[in-house]
Amino acid sequence: MLSVDDFSRQCVVVQGLVQVIKDNLKNGDLTSPIGKDIVDENYRQDSPMIPSRDKWAGQAEMLANRVNKNERKLRKWRKTQQVGCYRMYYLDIPELPMLIDWYEGRLHISTRHRPHDHLEQWIGFLAAHLAEQLGVARSDLFIKHRKLGRGGSQYPALSSEGRILEVGEGGHKFLVNLSDYLDTGLFLDHRTTRQMVQREAAGKRFLNIFAYTGSFTVYAAAGGASSTTSIDLSNTYLNVAKENMKLNGFTGSQHRFLKQDVLGMLRKKNVTPRFDLAVMDAPTVSRSKAMNDSLVIQDDYVWMLNALLQSISPEGVVYFSCNLSDFKFDKQAVRASEIADITEQTIPPDFKTKCPHKCFRLVK
Ligand SMILES: C[S@@+](CC[C@H](N)C(=O)[O-])C[C@H]1O[C@@H](n2cnc3c(N)ncnc32)[C@H](O)[C@@H]1O
Repeated sequence: MLSVDDFSRQCVVVQGLVQVIKDNLKNGDLTSPIGKDIVDENYRQDSPMIPSRDKWAGQAEMLANRVNKNERKLRKWRKTQQVGCYRMYYLDIPELPMLIDWYEGRLHISTRHRPHDHLEQWIGFLAAHLAEQLGVARSDLFIKHRKLGRGGSQYPALSSEGRILEVGEGGHKFLVNLSDYLDTGLFLDHRTTRQMVQREAAGKRFLNIFAYTGSFTVYAAAGGASSTTSIDLSNTYLNVAKENMKLNGFTGSQHRFLKQDVLGMLRKKNVTPRFDLAVMDAPTVSRSKAMNDSLVIQDDYVWMLNALLQSISPEGVVYFSCNLSDFKFDKQAVRASEIADITEQTIPPDFKTKCPHKCFRLVK
């Protein structure tokens, strides 16, 4: 028999759910898998915390059905492409606004905004039901919801559990952290873009700005880039980038990792072309204590790309991406010889229902 404390150790549910469970289940011994009993047995119908258990049960069923339906559609693609990490559910049903990703047997569930006041209990209920349907152990269920960090940081730590796992993608290995941050370290929507970068990296000097955990860098190195430079403001992410490169056998002084403010770097207007291939997968907005500058991608992309292109050799290529769904690109304002909107080509089958990013390929 599991106590509530055992449950909280074994099921990684962050941002208050465990506390809510503790507060509301004073007698709670949890016996059945995935905490389903938390809501079925211990949360009584007349609990003031739960407005409508029947409604939740219906929603849980609806969610599981939709995930199954999506899974059936993706099965052939997943098997032929050997995809182990993918999106199972992407805000499909308006009243169930969540993102559900599969990481080789682990279930990662996050919400984008608060659908109602009982978020923690509600999401716990739905997640528990889904995990049970999919045969996922409670220790492999991760639930998160977005809450801006102090000063508006978009990447706050949600817990310090440190459940770091190694997963595979495209024949490469990556570390993902399912427990501590809303973003896991591997943005699954850019799986196809990463393959494109790999295909044209041979012999190129590769630059990755806003590099995060270096997933583009791993693909570029695998594609035969002669050197790689990964730049990010965060030491934590750069260390993961280094680990990811090491994990795939890419070590040596030709692979550089720089903790630097990309805006400051671009504002210096370095006119010496030092790179042949670059990726700028920029955040939509960025403000941090570490820099005195701020970035709003829709306002700043023109000068940023023009500055970046100065560091690129003639006929060199820049991949530019952002997550702003209504992003508008003014092709006249950017000094490149070719600019192609490749958004459609870069969205993999598991993200087809919603446009997760905009992506452009520029030739100097
Ligand atoms: C959207 S992620 C980039 C995703 C990444 N390109 C990938 O492929 O997974 C944003 C990253 O930008 C970094 N960042 C934000 N503002 C920055 C700045 N001014 N200079 C450098 N890095 C910055 C963050 O630390 C974070 O790692």
